[in-house]
Amino acid sequence: MRRVWNFYPGPGALPLPVLRRVRAELLDFRGLGMSVMELSHRSDAALNLIAETLERLRRLLDLDESFELLLLQGGASLQFAMVPLNLSPPGGKVDYVDTGYWTARAIAEARRLGRDVAIAASSGPEHRQLPAQLQVRADTCYLHLCSNNTIEGTQWQVIPRVQAPLVVDMSSDILSRRIDCRTISCLYAHAQKTLGPAGTTLVALRRDVVKHIPEDMPTMLDYRPHIAQRSNYNTPPIFAIYVVGCVLDWLENEVGGLEAIEQINRRKAALLYQVIDESALFQCPVTAASRSLMNVVFRLAEPRLEAQFVRAAAERGLIGLAGHRSVGGCRASLYNPVSLEAVGELADFMRRFEQRLAA
Ligand SMILES: Cc1ncc(COP(=O)(O)O)c(C=O)c1O
Repeated sequence: MRRVWNFYPGPGALPLPVLRRVRAELLDFRGLGMSVMELSHRSDAALNLIAETLERLRRLLDLDESFELLLLQGGASLQFAMVPLNLSPPGGKVDYVDTGYWTARAIAEARRLGRDVAIAASSGPEHRQLPAQLQVRADTCYLHLCSNNTIEGTQWQVIPRVQAPLVVDMSSDILSRRIDCRTISCLYAHAQKTLGPAGTTLVALRRDVVKHIPEDMPTMLDYRPHIAQRSNYNTPPIFAIYVVGCVLDWLENEVGGLEAIEQINRRKAALLYQVIDESALFQCPVTAASRSLMNVVFRLAEPRLEAQFVRAAAERGLIGLAGHRSVGGCRASLYNPVSLEAVGELADFMRRFEQRLAA
């Protein structure tokens, strides 16, 4: 079996022990004589599986019973709409921190839904450094920010504390490090980067924000039916939820939990930033204090060289290193399943590529 070193930005690598477990359990889930994909979503086995996965998420995020946890569909992009629809009335004030491509999408969606959007701070136009000051309106319904900017390669080292209810898009760094989620009113993250395969999206909501959800919402866009039915209002993506559960089990019991994965993630990113900072060929546009542990973006002197680098890396089995189509350049995504060994291979390759060009 040939496995490549996978640096795709999401969907991306999954832990090999998880893939092996999924293969082993595929035809007979927990001795029931059928695959997890064949389970009725109303069966005890499916209900238990969803409940266990939510419990693991609650434990790893260290969230108590004052939070509702949901596994929904529609990706993070659906949350760009569900957040303003549920957490603010039509015409209501909502504040956003603009830090790149995905926050721009979230902002556009809130505007489209007729909210009064203000930009509390911006890292633009080039998004090299996250803003130090936020200007949040006293009567805003919430402040929205993105903890890790997948495309720009910036990450909040500390999640800002604000008076307003805080909403955080954690799609590309959830459970990659310890952060105090209890200061957040609503967080959401699709699964396909650090949690598992695409198909389900985690939402955690403080119970007090749920009380203010406007009436007369389309049912599927209203958090309440999903809460009432424990993420089983309509047919849930049970296979994706099952794999998320396996990834969380791996994280807790094989890796050793959040502190352990954070240490590994810090070592991985440090290895790559060191190669870049010591190089005359590679350059990281992001200032040191805003650099992401998850998405290391870098440039070479010209696009022609970047294409050559991505091609040569792929020939060596190092896959997924092109930057996002909106910004170009190169990017290595180092989500939880990407091993230190994989990053070591990439670091070696980058050094050798530079030496070859200089020769
Ligand atoms: C930070 C962030 N938010 C939102 C999205 C959109 O996610 P989805 O494709 O699940 O809608 C992405 C996609 O990669 C992302 O990185």
